[in-house]
Amino acid sequence: MRYLTVALTKGRLAEKTLGLFEKAGITCKEALDKDTRKLIFTNEDLKMNFFLAKGPDVPTYVEYGAADLGVVGKDTIMEEGRNIYEVLDLGIGKCRMCVAGPKSAASLLEDYGQIRVATKYPRIAKDYFHNVKNQTVEIIKLNGSIELSPIVGLSEVIVDIVETGSTLKENGLFVLEEICPLSARVVVNQVSMRMENERIREMISALRGVI
Ligand code: PRP
Repeated sequence: MRYLTVALTKGRLAEKTLGLFEKAGITCKEALDKDTRKLIFTNEDLKMNFFLAKGPDVPTYVEYGAADLGVVGKDTIMEEGRNIYEVLDLGIGKCRMCVAGPKSAASLLEDYGQIRVATKYPRIAKDYFHNVKNQTVEIIKLNGSIELSPIVGLSEVIVDIVETGSTLKENGLFVLEEICPLSARVVVNQVSMRMENERIREMISALRGVI
């Protein structure tokens, strides 16, 4: 039997994902070992490989077929725009994609003024402002700590993920508009979906049973 390969997102999503997989009988205990520098793990009984990758790389591995399946946030799926199937909402890693900023920026959004928007998600921000709101904005790509941007005057607002809201609160910022809800999804390579249909369907239904 061919080994099925699963790409998992490193970081805060990994532990929750592996917990859910474990409950569904898809065990990969080794991957939970925080001290290991090993990158890929095998479950010989299930004939499966698991590896941890940076979120934005998961859709890439899956599109090219280097992984048959992946688990990644909806934000990353939207931002990467890869040709992959999204087959299941795992209901973990729930958060929201929002426009945020100081209270004073609210009027700039209503007036459709020319503003600067800082974000780690330029594609999502562009789609929202240009296609949903029809507001011309300048998008500035950043790589982290996005909340800094309006504080130091790089942009009027940000487009970012809000989970508990405490990062915004601690920095005097507010959710001004909500773009969409987010959570972790299972994605599948388009060829694998046909070639390994039975095994993938079994896996999906086992996961569905525990969410
Ligand atoms: C994310 C996001 C926010 C924060 C939201 O950043 O970009 O900054 O979490 O969470 P909260 O609403 O619970 O405060 P992350 O910690 O992933 O790091 P980053 O700033 O480097 O992107």
